[in-house]
Amino acid sequence: MTNTPGDQQLRTQLHEVRNSVASGWAANIDHIEQRGARVTDLMLDAIGPEPGQRILELACGTGATGLAAARRFGPGSMVTVSDVAPDMVAVAAERAAEQGVTNVATTVLDIEQIEMPDGVFDAVLCREGLMFAVDPGRGLAEIRRVLTPRGRVSVAVWGVREKNPWLGVLFDAVSAEMGFAVPPPGLPEPFSLSDPGRLRELFVAAGFLDVTITEVYDPFVAPDFESWWVRVSAMSGPLATMLKAMNPDMAQSLTGRLRELVAPYETDAGVELPGLAMVACAYRD
Ligand SMILES: C[S@@+](CC[C@H](N)C(=O)[O-])C[C@H]1O[C@@H](n2cnc3c(N)ncnc32)[C@H](O)[C@@H]1O
Repeated sequence: MTNTPGDQQLRTQLHEVRNSVASGWAANIDHIEQRGARVTDLMLDAIGPEPGQRILELACGTGATGLAAARRFGPGSMVTVSDVAPDMVAVAAERAAEQGVTNVATTVLDIEQIEMPDGVFDAVLCREGLMFAVDPGRGLAEIRRVLTPRGRVSVAVWGVREKNPWLGVLFDAVSAEMGFAVPPPGLPEPFSLSDPGRLRELFVAAGFLDVTITEVYDPFVAPDFESWWVRVSAMSGPLATMLKAMNPDMAQSLTGRLRELVAPYETDAGVELPGLAMVACAYRD
């Protein structure tokens, strides 16, 4: 586990960038809920259902997974929906109100330092968030700490970049355009936990039992190239900031490259860019 002053500074910067894309996520909230439904269902199957569960969602973004849990497990359960980015939490709270879901509380929490007492949750959910922790092992140790004995955790992460062209082609094109690797090596990024062996080891090292990892095909489907491009660029964390700062010539050249990279995935119905998620589930000892 690492916790140097440099790590703390990095965490602060990364959390600010995440907060800055909350409006991009809010604008795409229906797409986020629809696209992730299969992964969410699998995550919820793994943690329940049992009456009266206390569930924590970490790295909630717009809250799609936690709100689905609250609807599925019903008013007897209580779901705490959280993210390190306050603006994301605000979007999730608004969504809960819009959907009339009342068995939900929202709060700001860092997965690496969960400000909750020990053993207060029966289950923890985290969809596509753990890989953004500077130290995911520390995040899993925190998840274990807040779980009751035999409490369950379900975490979704992206598989390898090559099987996720929905985002991989954007990284490839921006890297080619900039002349350096994007995202830079060593920083937490969407594919940081894409090695199933390492993912399993992290769970085991944190004290979890019966770790299962299931692959889920999770494509990005859009009516056309433009729709994919608008969505993915608005939601892509640090890359969104880089894209906004690009000069017009570079932006035009990037779009040309992307059109070529996306062309093989065009279908009669639009574009279908493949994606592969991995859902890891386990019990607390
Ligand atoms: C790719 S989004 C996933 C959002 C949501 N779970 C979903 O699947 O739609 C990643 C989320 O992780 C959050 N995040 C990043 N680092 C975090 C941390 N250390 N603690 C809690 N949340 C974090 C970001 O703010 C962002 O909302």
